[in-house]
Amino acid sequence: MKRLLTVASLVVAGLPFLAAAPAVTDPCALPDSAVDGERKDYLRLANSCVKCHADVTAEHQGSAHASSWTDPLVQAAIKADPSKADGCARCHAPREILDVGIGKLPEARTTARELGVTCITCHMKKNDYFGPYTSKGHGGVEASAFYRESTMCAGCHGQPEARKEHEQFSSFLKGPAAKDGATCQSCHMPEVTRELVTDPKIRPEFKIGAVPARKHTFGGVRKGSLLAQAAALGVEPSSEGWRIGITPKTGHALPASYGRRVRLTVEQRGDGEKPLKTDVFDFVAPETALAPGVSSTHAVAKVSGVVSAKAVLTHHAQVAPGRDAEEVGVIATLVLPVGN
Ligand code: HEC
Ligand code: HEC
Ligand code: HEC
Ligand code: HEC
Ligand code: HEC
Repeated sequence: MKRLLTVASLVVAGLPFLAAAPAVTDPCALPDSAVDGERKDYLRLANSCVKCHADVTAEHQGSAHASSWTDPLVQAAIKADPSKADGCARCHAPREILDVGIGKLPEARTTARELGVTCITCHMKKNDYFGPYTSKGHGGVEASAFYRESTMCAGCHGQPEARKEHEQFSSFLKGPAAKDGATCQSCHMPEVTRELVTDPKIRPEFKIGAVPARKHTFGGVRKGSLLAQAAALGVEPSSEGWRIGITPKTGHALPASYGRRVRLTVEQRGDGEKPLKTDVFDFVAPETALAPGVSSTHAVAKVSGVVSAKAVLTHHAQVAPGRDAEEVGVIATLVLPVGN
């Protein structure tokens, strides 16, 4: 029955490439998003939230969620193979996550895709609003516990079958942060105490007052960088030179996404211009990514004539269609003792 419906809606949508399309192996490439039930007034509704929730909106606008469809890398990939657009839209321009259920792969939106992941995506189902508090806003909202749980993010960030390249859950679930009760929100939505509405015209009887809330900045590696919190470097001397220790502090693998590389560079200098020796250790997702909470040590031999030495841990977003040069960010730097 479901299959018949899917076929029927595709015929209605009149997608021309389907007849000749080969068997689909990538589950997220399945263009089975229903067109029925789509909001007609998406743009207007999405743009209305700023009036009463100005600070949340400003944070969200600066985040990768707001640019998840206009992202030049996403657009470059879709330009190369337009038949993938509907599959990508399931997470990059999705319909309401509550339509399918928390933690499940969302459906694709057909309208206002340029808005990416929006307030409506995470907070609405039909005409009802959902949030973490019990409030009188929007005709009365009952608190929903899932806003404080990591599963909230899993529909898009935890789909190893649909998109293992951009999946943070498998390593998160095995790591110490999850065991200690931390959530994705703990690190990616910083705490702030504030009122939920910024519009001064809203009368006090409709407000719950200032409450512990969370910023919608969703910092990562690209916008609102969290790299300075990603790992710590340590050093102990060895008979040959040094043992450099890396302790990841992320809740998940580091790096946490394909196309990323973390690099330890150890540079030894003498009196001259050029370094005497440079050692490089690469950690690439997924095979050699650093597991969360697991420290590793990397031995470096000291060369004679060394005057100064330092270790630098960097994060690299690799060259891809839409990204002409590697983007490099510094995680940590450590001056190494050279002795005498
Ligand atoms: C990716 C999902 C996601 C998106 C997109 C999103 N939110 Fe939220 N929102 C959350 C989560 C999770 C919480 C709960 C945070 C907490 O525990 O306090 C929340 C909380 C809130 C709250 C209540 C308290 C607070 O933190 O201020 C308001 C109001 C809110 N969101 C409005 C918005 C508006 C307006 C937008 C669009 C500009 C938006 N949200 C976009 C996930 C999202
Ligand atoms: C299951 C949900 C899902 C689907 C389907 C999906 N993505 Fe993503 N994508 C994500 C998430 C989550 C991120 C952010 C996390 C990350 O970078 O690992 C992301 C990030 C990206 C990035 C940024 C990578 C970078 O190096 O900065 C690109 C480009 C991208 N996706 C392209 C696509 C394209 C093209 C498609 C369709 C062929 C697609 N995605 C389908 C969830 C998805
Ligand atoms: C203990 C803090 C912490 C927790 C918990 C945490 N993260 Fe992160 N996350 C970070 C830090 C720090 C970075 C930046 C370094 C990096 O790239 O991994 C990051 C990076 C990311 C990135 C960018 C990935 C990349 O390598 O390009 C995504 C996406 C992300 N986190 C999603 C999540 C999701 C989803 C969860 C919950 C399953 C989560 N995070 C839990 C700290 C955390
Ligand atoms: C005319 C003003 C107004 C507009 C426009 C508005 N809201 Fe609200 N919203 C409120 C009020 C009032 C509250 C309750 C505040 C309180 O209890 O302190 C609220 C609360 C919320 C909450 C928290 C609910 C809870 O109990 O946890 C969310 C989430 C939210 N709004 C989302 C949105 C989204 C998404 C939009 C746009 C589609 C939007 N709001 C547009 C006035 C507005
Ligand atoms: C409806 C799908 C969806 C949901 C739900 C969602 N995200 Fe995302 N998220 C994305 C997509 C798509 C991107 C990649 C945007 C891009 O192209 O750069 C992204 C990007 C991010 C980034 C930036 C990663 C970077 O490369 O810097 C962080 C951090 C993040 N999300 C955290 C979260 C957290 C925490 C939650 C749960 C509260 C969550 N997301 C819920 C789809 C989603």
